Amino acid sequence: MNAVDIIIKKRDSKALTDEEIRFFIDGYTEGKIPDYQAAAWAMAVLCRGMTARETTALTRAMAESGEMVSLKGIADIAVDKHSTGGVGDKTTLIVQPIVTACGLPVAKMSGRGLGFSGGTIDKFESIPGMRLNLSKEEFLNQLKQYGTVLSGQSADLAPADGKLYALRDVTGTVPSIPLIASSIMSKKIAAGTPLILLDVKVGNGAFMETLEKAEKLARLMVSIGKKFGRSVKAELTDMNQPLGYAVGNALEVQEAVRMLRGEKSAPDLYEHCIESSALMIKMGKKAKSVDEARHMAEDAIHTGKALESLKLLVRLQGGDVSYIDDLAKFPKAPIIRDLYARSDGWLSEINARMVGEASVLLGAGRVTKADRIDHRVGIIVHHKVGDPIKKGMPLFTVHANNEEKLNQAAELLNNACKYSESEVEKLPQFYGLIE
Ligand code: URA
Repeated sequence: MNAVDIIIKKRDSKALTDEEIRFFIDGYTEGKIPDYQAAAWAMAVLCRGMTARETTALTRAMAESGEMVSLKGIADIAVDKHSTGGVGDKTTLIVQPIVTACGLPVAKMSGRGLGFSGGTIDKFESIPGMRLNLSKEEFLNQLKQYGTVLSGQSADLAPADGKLYALRDVTGTVPSIPLIASSIMSKKIAAGTPLILLDVKVGNGAFMETLEKAEKLARLMVSIGKKFGRSVKAELTDMNQPLGYAVGNALEVQEAVRMLRGEKSAPDLYEHCIESSALMIKMGKKAKSVDEARHMAEDAIHTGKALESLKLLVRLQGGDVSYIDDLAKFPKAPIIRDLYARSDGWLSEINARMVGEASVLLGAGRVTKADRIDHRVGIIVHHKVGDPIKKGMPLFTVHANNEEKLNQAAELLNNACKYSESEVEKLPQFYGLIE
């Protein structure tokens, strides 16, 4: 068996055997197969696809590339959630503390930014000191003692996904149903969490642009979960405009903290977080109905318990909690500038992908594997699709670290907005739940 033959076989649209998939993933994880061959293979998978059997084998090989955690006897009803990636999606920072505050252990495996979409690990790293590459032992001890833990892939947990994820980010190989399904599900399966809520995003700011593709991805992940004995639900949610107002790492952390403080939040973000929390609380049988679970989630915010739970998570993982208490401590980008509406009317589009691309351009995401993120930069989006707009109103506030990048991002952002002379309906938030 060799890597070139496996790449050629996939390039020619043939199904790989379980052994070939295992050989490739193990070889890449161990450094025997170089990045350029893995990139060619990922592109072949993206172009030619994989059968459900191949995708399950790929998930298994990636999960088993590191240690397989069992939560039996540690947290038998622990829950995890995972988004397929979006723009302004800071839900984990809000939902994990809410759910933990409602008495359900959360064992979260997260990723970094991918292409134009942000990643929870990058967002949390805006908080100085925060450690997010926990060993298996640290992950389990923290979960057992405190019922809340969040880590990225590490040398211990799904290392194959860690490597492949970083490679896909910079080789145009993200939007592939088998690669996304195996990436997400391998992390979940390695971490051992029995209950999993998937948030499958649909729209121009998601890797699945149509409902049909999003549903296909959701069903595939739910069925892979089932094969590994996990209980999985997948919500299909809108990503045609950024979620909430902030896009960019430290800006998103601050928006999340404000919501947990009970301050006025973007209605779409609030609704999304309450619904996702409720689904998780219900899955963990902490409530009899989703309605009851929604009340519990709202209560966790209003009583301040969810905020305390975020602070606990940050403190346990070495983060400086004083940043949560005093948001002014987050360093600010050197240039902060408003962009204004160019027309009267109603906003009919705020293209989430273009906003995501603008934030990557500003330095909030990576273009090459070696890029370092500037946690300060990003965009505040002041309006939502359907809002009435007057020419000259501020539409965006751009946080940048250099004029040239600011000008390029501004051009993208201006082009991301469309106006209508007649009233425009608000975008839906939820398209369904796959169980
Ligand atoms: N999230 C992941 O963990 N992997 C993907 O491929 C996409 C989103």
